[in-house]
Amino acid sequence: MRVLLLLAFCVVAALAQDSAPRLLSLPDPKLCAARPKQWNHGGHNYFFSWDQADIGLETVAGTGETKGKKVDWLEARNQCRSRCMDAVGMETEAENNMIFEFMKTHNITYIWTSGRLCDFKGCSERKDLQPVNVLGWFWSNTNTKMAPTNSTPPGWAAQPWSPAGHFGGPQPDNAEYDINQTSESCLGVLNNIYKDGIKWHDIACYHKKPFICEDNDLLLQYVQQTNPGLNL
Ligand SMILES: *[C@@H]1O[C@H](CO)[C@@H](O)[C@H](O)[C@H]1NC(C)=O
Ligand SMILES: *[C@@H]1O[C@H](CO)[C@@H](O)[C@H](O)[C@H]1NC(C)=O
Repeated sequence: MRVLLLLAFCVVAALAQDSAPRLLSLPDPKLCAARPKQWNHGGHNYFFSWDQADIGLETVAGTGETKGKKVDWLEARNQCRSRCMDAVGMETEAENNMIFEFMKTHNITYIWTSGRLCDFKGCSERKDLQPVNVLGWFWSNTNTKMAPTNSTPPGWAAQPWSPAGHFGGPQPDNAEYDINQTSESCLGVLNNIYKDGIKWHDIACYHKKPFICEDNDLLLQYVQQTNPGLNL
């Protein structure tokens, strides 16, 4: 049985360290009803931000060309959450394979997921999350704990964390912290950037990337209950 963390709101406080507090977005019923349903897996809808003109693309000033918009980790979650979705969480190997395959066939260099390190207020008191780089990672979309990072997850055929990163060693390695004390607290999937195939990497949350959104059951239930007539 996976352990629920229920620490979603602490993430917000942790991200607010260097500027005004930034909050998780509330779902917008209209955006939820109109959310992109690009593909379906296990009863959830998904979309890739750069495949959605009104969400993931922007016009370059001057030239009029369009290019893919990149956002930081919290903004990726909020773009999804306003639509009753959240950044994708790969709780099962089948879902992870599906995301890796999508990135491979669409030649996508990198994405944000909802993966987050519990390294904010309240985390250090949790003995079950120590050592945090091994036991402290969770999917923030479902508040689901990840398997220990230092071995292949039980029942999975392969280790999704990369064997290679900035310093050449296995992920997560918190490499940017060693460079300038910026924690690599968010989980991105990188496509062969370190000649390592498609793999999970710990990355500082301010970096900007496109993202994949996944339906969020709690937000959908909440919006349905408060808007009984709405067709979600
Ligand atoms: C895949 O993406 C990379 C990086 O954006 C690009 O250099 C390469 O040409 C692309 N390959 C294909 C087959 O589109
Ligand atoms: C930390 O180092 C990275 C990688 O060199 C750089 O991109 C980032 O801007 C630096 N951050 C700070 C706060 O200096």
